[in-house]
Amino acid sequence: MSLHLGRTEFGSISNKGNVLSRNEAEELFHTWVLNPKLKLHMLQVAGLMKAWAIEMEKLTDEESWKWEMAGLLHDADWDQWPDLHCKKIIEELEQRNIDPEIIRAIASHGHLHFGVEPVSQMDKMLYAFDELSGLIHAYSLMRPGGYQDMDLKGVKKRLKEKSFAANVSRDDIQDACQRANIQLDDLINFIIPHQKLITTE
Ligand SMILES: [Fe+2]
Repeated sequence: MSLHLGRTEFGSISNKGNVLSRNEAEELFHTWVLNPKLKLHMLQVAGLMKAWAIEMEKLTDEESWKWEMAGLLHDADWDQWPDLHCKKIIEELEQRNIDPEIIRAIASHGHLHFGVEPVSQMDKMLYAFDELSGLIHAYSLMRPGGYQDMDLKGVKKRLKEKSFAANVSRDDIQDACQRANIQLDDLINFIIPHQKLITTE
């Protein structure tokens, strides 16, 4: 089964600046995503996207919501419609006349699956955070103290261990860092303290 989207243009430029309200986004999130593990993953990626937009890209609150929203909804259709992964959420956001930048970021978060290259910095960061955030969370679950005292060295060791969180693509992580022009170490050092603060409660 291919998840290839078969297109590289999304939404309409006339919708630039259109976003869901936080309530609308959260309603979609809670209605579509039922699995608590997936919910946490999406919240983690959303939190990382927001933090990166504000701290590293120096974007305004309004602009950073676009990044956060892309993170919050990037896997929205994975839980209930895995065969339609990415396609369904993209079409939903297109129907709701959402800013094409947000839709494109979601469409390119797994370019090998969906056939859409990450181009903007928002596209690239969503791609970069997705897999690495998952590996770091898996690592926190096997540590007695969770994120407490977690460091770069420990994460890199887990990355080298191919059997650990084996579904996390190390190639995607390397590729994402190169595309975003970020050192892997810097990305890990950004994720640990920020992700530590993100919980479902
Ligand atoms: Fe994801």
